[in-house]
Amino acid sequence: MLKTTVIATRPYVDQKPGTSGLRKKVAEFQQPHYLENFVQSIFDVLEACRGQTLVLGGDGRYFNRPAIQTILKMAAANGFGRVVVGRNGILSTPACSHLIRRLQAFGGIILSASHNPGGPQGDFGIKYNTANGGPAPSTLTDAIYARSRVITEYRMVLAEDMAIGESGRLKLGAMQVEVVDSVTDYVDLMQTLFDFDAIKSLLHTGSFSMCFDAMHAVTGPYARAIFQQRLGVPAQAIVNADPREDFGGGHPDPNLTYAHELVHTMYAADAPDFGAACDGDGDRNMILGRHFFVSPSDSVAILAANAHLVPGYQKGLAGVARSMPTSQALDRVAQKLGIPCYETPTGWKFFGNLLDAGLITLCGEESFGTGSDHVREKDGLWAVLFWLNILAVRRLSVAEIVQDHWRTYGRNFYLRHDYEGLDPLVAGCVLKNLRAKFASLAGRRFGAYRIKSCDDFHYTDPVDQGVAQGQGIRLIFDNDARVVLRLSGTGTEGATLRVYLEQFEPDAARHGLEAPQALQALAAVADDIAGIHKRLGRDAPTVIT
Ligand code: G1P
Ligand code: ZN
Repeated sequence: MLKTTVIATRPYVDQKPGTSGLRKKVAEFQQPHYLENFVQSIFDVLEACRGQTLVLGGDGRYFNRPAIQTILKMAAANGFGRVVVGRNGILSTPACSHLIRRLQAFGGIILSASHNPGGPQGDFGIKYNTANGGPAPSTLTDAIYARSRVITEYRMVLAEDMAIGESGRLKLGAMQVEVVDSVTDYVDLMQTLFDFDAIKSLLHTGSFSMCFDAMHAVTGPYARAIFQQRLGVPAQAIVNADPREDFGGGHPDPNLTYAHELVHTMYAADAPDFGAACDGDGDRNMILGRHFFVSPSDSVAILAANAHLVPGYQKGLAGVARSMPTSQALDRVAQKLGIPCYETPTGWKFFGNLLDAGLITLCGEESFGTGSDHVREKDGLWAVLFWLNILAVRRLSVAEIVQDHWRTYGRNFYLRHDYEGLDPLVAGCVLKNLRAKFASLAGRRFGAYRIKSCDDFHYTDPVDQGVAQGQGIRLIFDNDARVVLRLSGTGTEGATLRVYLEQFEPDAARHGLEAPQALQALAAVADDIAGIHKRLGRDAPTVIT
């Protein structure tokens, strides 16, 4: 029998989960009892954890290893019957979601700060996923936060750290610890959804080449197992595939700014035909063709339009969903398919109910996140395989597929401007001032743009009627243009203002424009209306995606 100790603690006031769990600097998590307080708050709120199965894993970033050991000891002291943990504590976010579902576990804890940098100076994060494999809904995260504000003690068994480097069954007191291979289950799932033979034959035509960049993060081993071992892609086509605790000092966010190595490869004279990258925890993806970038909003629309070509989706789509700021390219596909398209607030958790209720099959966000009902998280490698499957069937280039899509549906020019590291008060003021002007804005003209309506987006979940208020300001213009402004809920340093610009263009003669060119006038109008640059004291965004 191991001894359980009850350790007295005092609440931290800042453990409020954001868009995707609790994210902070590593140093904050290293404060005495900080991690333990939050974990105990989760267990306290769950109540019925006695005898249950918990899945545990993370993206391998710095602090993952000690955190796993702490959580194992706390789970044992709180009466869990079994913890299933990825080997060395590693599970990508979608693989963790899958494992929770396949094992019919009570829930799971994922350790990750997604695409945020790692290392002692970087970020760490923790989130709880429920039995459906998806992020806990706001009701639960609110309850966890409330608990964290009054917590006085946590429980932990006194034991040595566990050796979790090999698969197998171990015991921690009365609790079973099952160490599982991080990759196999997930790779098997992918094989049920996609036509690996068709992809293999595309890859072996001799005229098709690809490059996958794991950004020194969690997808490295998954990519090797899928692309190299099962699909026969040459080893050198998978780069930065050794996960590192600090992601090699990089920023594991697959976009044109941070995935610069892949961008360089894909825009070189001898570029491969297909390029992709995933983020720190494997739920985001960026898709590139030869000298060609696929905007994530277009990507999810193209997956929906071509889903009938992919075995796992041949039976058709029940419906689709996108987060509000994501471009409306997906809506156009849904309309043509005669299926509903739901508009949810930012954050994957809002797709969970729609997926569980069978109302949607595919969903996505402009922030390089795409997924389906196969798990309850967005899924980076799934999106890469989906694209490869489409390419294998259609035998066109990435650029040709996208351009063909625009010809059929029109093009939704789209850009996101991020202003990072702002004083939260100043950033908040931009939105506050804009809200105060709503009444006077409707009907006003700004150059070629006339405001049709403006509001603060709120959402009523069609399944449980839960209401989410204040989810971003929408300025909707007469000429099929839209500007959205909201504050990030995932940052760990100051505030980040996101400005989303969208303009629909039906005229194929104009589809060849670059997005910044096509959206230049709209960006100026947004600045004019919201006084972004003046108020923030900035003359350009920090990152444009
Ligand atoms: C960001 C993205 C959002 C995504 C989330 C988690 O949240 O914008 O779409 O779901 O990361 O990956 P934000 O920082 O905007 O709150
Ligand atoms: Zn992520």
